[in-house]
Amino acid sequence: MPKEEAFAKLLYLAAAVLFIIGLKGLTHPRTAVRGNIIAALGMLLAIVVTLMDQRIVSFQIIVAGFVVGGLVGVIMAYRSSMTAIPQVVAVFNGFGGGASAIAVGAAYMEALKGEWIEEITIQFTSSVAMAGLIGAVALTGSAIAFGKLQRLIKERPVLIPGRHVINVTLLLICLGLGTWLVVDPTGSFPFWAMVGVASLLGIMLVIPIGGADMPVVISLLNAYSGLAAAGHGWVLNNSVLIIAGSLVGAAGFFLTALMCRAMNRSLINVIFAGVGTVVATEAETEDIYAGRVKSASPEEVAMLLSDARRVVIAPGYGMAVAQAQYAIQDLMLLLESRGIEVDFAIHPVAGRMPGHMNVLLAEANIPYDKLIELERINPTFRQTDVVLVFGANDVVNPLARDSDPSIPIAGMPILNVDEARSVVIVKRSLSPGFAGIANPLFAADNSLMLFGDAKEMAMDLTTALKET
Ligand code: TAP
Repeated sequence: MPKEEAFAKLLYLAAAVLFIIGLKGLTHPRTAVRGNIIAALGMLLAIVVTLMDQRIVSFQIIVAGFVVGGLVGVIMAYRSSMTAIPQVVAVFNGFGGGASAIAVGAAYMEALKGEWIEEITIQFTSSVAMAGLIGAVALTGSAIAFGKLQRLIKERPVLIPGRHVINVTLLLICLGLGTWLVVDPTGSFPFWAMVGVASLLGIMLVIPIGGADMPVVISLLNAYSGLAAAGHGWVLNNSVLIIAGSLVGAAGFFLTALMCRAMNRSLINVIFAGVGTVVATEAETEDIYAGRVKSASPEEVAMLLSDARRVVIAPGYGMAVAQAQYAIQDLMLLLESRGIEVDFAIHPVAGRMPGHMNVLLAEANIPYDKLIELERINPTFRQTDVVLVFGANDVVNPLARDSDPSIPIAGMPILNVDEARSVVIVKRSLSPGFAGIANPLFAADNSLMLFGDAKEMAMDLTTALKET
């Protein structure tokens, strides 16, 4: 091996080590920023080494791509709110998958012309086929996920009759075209036809999934874009691309599995069950609430809080929608200044993306040691005077304890807020949450509803508490 090539390989290895250390840093909020910087340094090193490659013939196109792509990325990142992060990730996954599919296609066409590689091997063609198929699915699947989350297309599951048969047929056609490419690598038709059919498959796979299940799907598509990049690495014989792609693929699959476990749903159920099509009927809801729901004013809740010794705040998706975290922080500070102990109950799937509540509360400078996870906070509710539920619904729904399989959240571990002396639920109405089912907590003897926007109610509570 020539000296320069060996040196480049060594630097690629160093970049891969930086990726792994960076990823390790991302496992804790305290080390996450450092982890991100380390991984970014690894990426910089990998890019610099790649740019020094002798095979590069035109730097103009690379610089143009860098400027245009960089500009779009920076504008998107600055303009997106925290609640839009899942959409942003969807776009990045889609572009990553699409780029891999197009780049392996270009490499294959060059190889057909006899340029660039000496011999078309089975390893080469099977990597081209794999990266093309998975990359195309990631591209169009992510585009649909983006459209649903951005409300550009219908959020509810679109259940096309016979979709399973259609999907299996599309997959078989893709595999057939991929096999053709591997067995007879003489033309470009099988590759581009496979990319076209796989693009259709990506749409068909994501369209039947409800908007609220999208974060799980995005995490899965993230894994796919990683696999496509790894395949691209095999095509180019580039070790750092293989390692980085495999890391993204593995991290994406783990995250998908963790999200499914926290919701007590299987991946098959997320992909095929079309959750979100069923919404509780008014009659069912009426049965559960039937005149038992008690509503309170901010002043009444403030009285309750002023007598408390321990208060737990359980946030959910509504806190993110209302951007209530800063108002909640003010309320926390006021309660603590009165000698009241305040903790936050964090459910793993509260909100719409992993760590959603942690990110928002950290943004409002709420200390990490106050964010207590489900297993640790649950045993403490019996010693809690008041729980303030801000915009959470499914994650505090006692129906989850039921084993009835017709209940979409059956078996999902929940925050046992109903065990506290008093529970105040802050939301705008009695509407259901993501799972579309009624919540008996709202009608429990120890519950009070504080109807209104989470941010406005947190501010009203602070004002009312100051006056008590
Ligand atoms: P949800 O069950 O979705 O309930 C959110 C509640 O917030 C709604 O009932 C809504 O009631 C209320 N709300 C909306 N806007 C509000 C506002 N401005 N002010 C006050 N309240 C507002 O949320 P959750 O309890 O956080 O549960 C999360 C759900 O999402 C779970 O079912 C979970 O499985 C699912 N999910 C989560 C993830 C991840 S990774 N986090 C991924 C996929 C799915 P009103 O309309 O009456 O105000």
